[in-house]
Amino acid sequence: MRIIIRDSSKISESYTPPRLPHREKEVNLLVQTLASGSNLMEGLIIIKGEPGIGKTSVAKLSSRRLAGLLENMKVARINCRTYRTPTSIIQRIASSLMPELPDRGLSYEEMVLILEKVLSKMKKSLLVVLDEVEYLKNGDSLVYTLLRLNEGEAPKSPTLLTIARWDPPYLMDDAIRSFVITRLPLEKYTPEQLETIISYRAGESLVEGSYDDDTIRKVVELSKHAGNARVSLKILYLAAKLSEEAGLSKIALDIVSEAASRIGVIGITEDALTPLDLHNKILLLAAAKMLSSIDRSWIKMGGLLEEYKLLCEEVGVLPYKYTAMWKRVRNLKNIGFLETKRSGEGMKGQTTLISLGSIPADKLRVKLKEMLEEELSPLPSSL
Ligand SMILES: Nc1ncnc2c1ncn2[C@@H]1O[C@H](COP(=O)(O)OP(=O)(O)O)[C@@H](O)[C@H]1O
Ligand SMILES: [Mg+2]
Repeated sequence: MRIIIRDSSKISESYTPPRLPHREKEVNLLVQTLASGSNLMEGLIIIKGEPGIGKTSVAKLSSRRLAGLLENMKVARINCRTYRTPTSIIQRIASSLMPELPDRGLSYEEMVLILEKVLSKMKKSLLVVLDEVEYLKNGDSLVYTLLRLNEGEAPKSPTLLTIARWDPPYLMDDAIRSFVITRLPLEKYTPEQLETIISYRAGESLVEGSYDDDTIRKVVELSKHAGNARVSLKILYLAAKLSEEAGLSKIALDIVSEAASRIGVIGITEDALTPLDLHNKILLLAAAKMLSSIDRSWIKMGGLLEEYKLLCEEVGVLPYKYTAMWKRVRNLKNIGFLETKRSGEGMKGQTTLISLGSIPADKLRVKLKEMLEEELSPLPSSL
């Protein structure tokens, strides 16, 4: 029986909610710009920004609303990570309009001709969404072709909406720039924005009472450095699943931490590191130092504590004893900074192995060193 997750379909990556808090302005702008009377405006729209900030969702929700507004409109959505060449993309567009089209053996030019014919017969406006366009090869020729389809048999060119992490250079060409209707650069979400978004999505998909404000705050706390709603949602849903599996009817906060560390999203920002006390910082620095100088991702607990002791001596503080440090390792694991596992076969005796998960050791080392230098100045340069 589902006790926490109420509607798992609303958890899937491909689900787009009916509302997008903090992106409604962009959605409205796109809809208002593109719906000119009862027609779809021709031209090029460019959405740009980091992963997980709602680019794909904005495109989906606005095309859904446009399709509701303009009866004569078709949408072809293509992910360029899957379809990377102009020929395969034209083929996808044509066959989305004409499913019986043969799917191979035709050249690019033949495909373009077919698309023109289909468009002239269909008497509909076409919105082509090219997602993750940075993966597209020879994008310039495809974009030109599509924007100029009306120079051939098609009565009207498709409207083109491209989405990318950065502008491919050809989109800056003068010839293409003259087609641009709007550019929408999107920013990372702020922690406050993530809070609204995550609590809205939790409300849609989880059982009431299975989470509260603290749950949402914890999820955001552990992912705010990324500003990425996908990461926050992953933590929420994994925490919901793990809590269900543990037989709980409410998401436990330490399970949220566990979910975040499984996903490996702990950041190395000052925000995340500042709350750690001196010895936790030194311990983490010891791990970062060791892990950045070897090319394995796990170190032994014993070695880590040796290194921690050495660092304590170097900076002139008294090291904690073994058992106290064990507790600290467990704590750092719970808040997602460290991962631990038991050593497997092939090693003498059983020992605990420690890693930094997906946190880059060398970056963490630099950051912690800076922070400790400030906290403890003067600090020997050998750190
Ligand atoms: N403003 C928002 N409100 C609700 N959910 C959002 C919002 N922005 C993003 N999401 C969700 O976060 C995930 C990532 O969004 P997506 O649009 O795919 O980002 P991008 O295309 O920029 O990588 C999706 O599951 C999406 O539903
Ligand atoms: Mg996307």
